[in-house]
Amino acid sequence: MTQEKRTILVTSALPYANGPIHIGHLVEYIQTDIWARFQKLRGHHCLYVCADDAHGTPIMLRARQQGITPEALIAQSSQEHQADFADFGIAFDNYHSTHSEENRRFSELIFERNQAGGHITSRTITQAYDAQENMFLPDRFIKGECPRCGAPDQYGDNCEVCGATYAPTELKNAVSAISGTTPVERETEHLFFKLTDFEDMLKQWIKAGHLQPEVAHKVEEWFSEGLQEWGISRDAPYFGFEIPGHPDKFFYVWMDAPIGYMASFRNLCDRTEGLDFEHYWGRASTTELYHFIGKDIINFHALFWPAMLRGADFRTPTAIFAHGFLTVDGQKMSKSRGTFIKARTYLDHLNPEYLRYYFAAKLGSGVDDIDLNLEDFVARVNSDLVGKVVNIASRCAGFINKRFAGRLADECTEPGLYRSFVDEGNDIAEQYENREFGHALRKIMALADRANQYIDANKPWVLAKQPDQEQTVQAVCSVGLNLFRVLMTYLQPVLPVMAAEVERFLNLPAMTWDAIESPLSAHTITAFKPLMTRVEGEKIEAMLDESKESLGSTEAAAKASSAVLQQDPIADTISYEDFAKVDLRIARITHAAHVEGADKLLQLTLDIGGETRTVYAGIKSAYTPETLEGKLTVMVANLAPRKMRFGVSEGMVLAAGPGGSELFVLHPDAGAQPGMRVK
Ligand code: 2FM
Ligand code: ZN
Repeated sequence: MTQEKRTILVTSALPYANGPIHIGHLVEYIQTDIWARFQKLRGHHCLYVCADDAHGTPIMLRARQQGITPEALIAQSSQEHQADFADFGIAFDNYHSTHSEENRRFSELIFERNQAGGHITSRTITQAYDAQENMFLPDRFIKGECPRCGAPDQYGDNCEVCGATYAPTELKNAVSAISGTTPVERETEHLFFKLTDFEDMLKQWIKAGHLQPEVAHKVEEWFSEGLQEWGISRDAPYFGFEIPGHPDKFFYVWMDAPIGYMASFRNLCDRTEGLDFEHYWGRASTTELYHFIGKDIINFHALFWPAMLRGADFRTPTAIFAHGFLTVDGQKMSKSRGTFIKARTYLDHLNPEYLRYYFAAKLGSGVDDIDLNLEDFVARVNSDLVGKVVNIASRCAGFINKRFAGRLADECTEPGLYRSFVDEGNDIAEQYENREFGHALRKIMALADRANQYIDANKPWVLAKQPDQEQTVQAVCSVGLNLFRVLMTYLQPVLPVMAAEVERFLNLPAMTWDAIESPLSAHTITAFKPLMTRVEGEKIEAMLDESKESLGSTEAAAKASSAVLQQDPIADTISYEDFAKVDLRIARITHAAHVEGADKLLQLTLDIGGETRTVYAGIKSAYTPETLEGKLTVMVANLAPRKMRFGVSEGMVLAAGPGGSELFVLHPDAGAQPGMRVK
């Protein structure tokens, strides 16, 4: 089992310092933590670092809104984030901040080296400017009507209703989301990173297999669309680092964010004897470097980051591991459904190891979204962890403790069975290594089934009633506990708290993968305490209730206070004749699909009673296609067909809500049939 010792540095994406950690974030931290713990358990030298992503306009504005300094806001976020992570068992070796001296130094160094290499250029561009606030406006701080479909209250870069993408200057009746005034156009000079200088290098790097196949494919598409220079400066006022030699210009938050990985590691080196920064980050480093990220930030990690590193003569990552998003019960997390669950809210109701286990069971090496199905969550945790794994220990421990003073049998009477459990370790390790956690857990649960079958077949509770079977009871229960120990070693990366409790109960030093090579014999264990209790449905309900923000409360209040939304929401009245012109029909969604290249749209095939329509609906942020198929809805059937980038849309389905994940497709009451007119 012994293998060469590897030196590994692992990171997760740095969470923004202006909001709480929620269960969507946790997919990534749990995934990375399991992988890092697995490497450590195997005896490798693995370090896991992270930090808060503390710069940018949203953080500056959030602090201003709260009447505190950005420094105070990020200090508070850092504390909250770290408490949430610790309580979920995320064991960082270091947690730092991008607003740190280390990060300033590396950002300046990387910029200056790239500049010396001729990879930085500058030019004047025109940008929207809020003359009342005296600041340039990032796209997401400009709102207005979509230039294509006229939907009100859309962000400056894309329309959540029809999926159009555009420049903020194309928005109709645009206003600053900060002051509510109309932005003006103003010229400003900016610095750009010449990504194109690195095209060949990046192509080779990608060919060498540093990305997952589907990610490499996506990046190749970007190459064929042509790489662009990347704007890396922002004008004051901005919360970030001023760019050396460019007064009042600041590094764009996405420029210094990944450098935060280095900064956090540097900070760890400064506090750890013998940990050498150059050994990990130098151009010739032979250590392994992995970044776990969400699929939405691939461009930053698979293009800009390796290019900037190369331009500054640092090593590039060994691999980028992207994962998908989290849905809850098949839909985007939603505040009104109560499925936008903050880490702290979860912790107030449920054991974090339930979620670690459930996510692990769903995680693979690809970028597919993963679904937290709450019913399945309860069933799986109860059946696998409580019903199978813990059950093995609770069936055996009592006999050993009560009848044999905690002493296990002198020898393992089932060496073949024990060996077969240990032999599975190689396969399980390979699945962990490849981030196929779901596969690893299925194998472990199959072993748990076998351990339970062994106990069922030998029935220690029956033997215990026969005085001449004393030794057999001890032998059977000792085998059971030895098999349990192997299983808990395999599960340790996923369930570190339970594993620590098992170390105490089995009276063992910290688990390692190699230690299970031989079974425990003539070894004394300690008292058994229940290791995990069943998930209770009421706790889930309470958690959802607490997470629910009715639209009448927080969100609506926030929106109403925003200057952007100060129009009367009730439009002028129309005549009955006007209304009668609208042909509203019941439609069945016979098919729903993603639209290649569209961020917001789903393609729906609608049956309106003998006639089929194709409609492109801007509801992707709220629904996955599977959840819509077969459902009835209401559509506008006589809307003139509209040619969109992806095809012709032959009508419109009706939905309610402010947009984003808060969008609810209307469904008629039972009894309605496709084709019926809505009156
Ligand atoms: O998308 C985000 O939440 C960013 N804060 C991630 C930064 S990752 C790294 F580049 F710092
Ligand atoms: Zn639109």
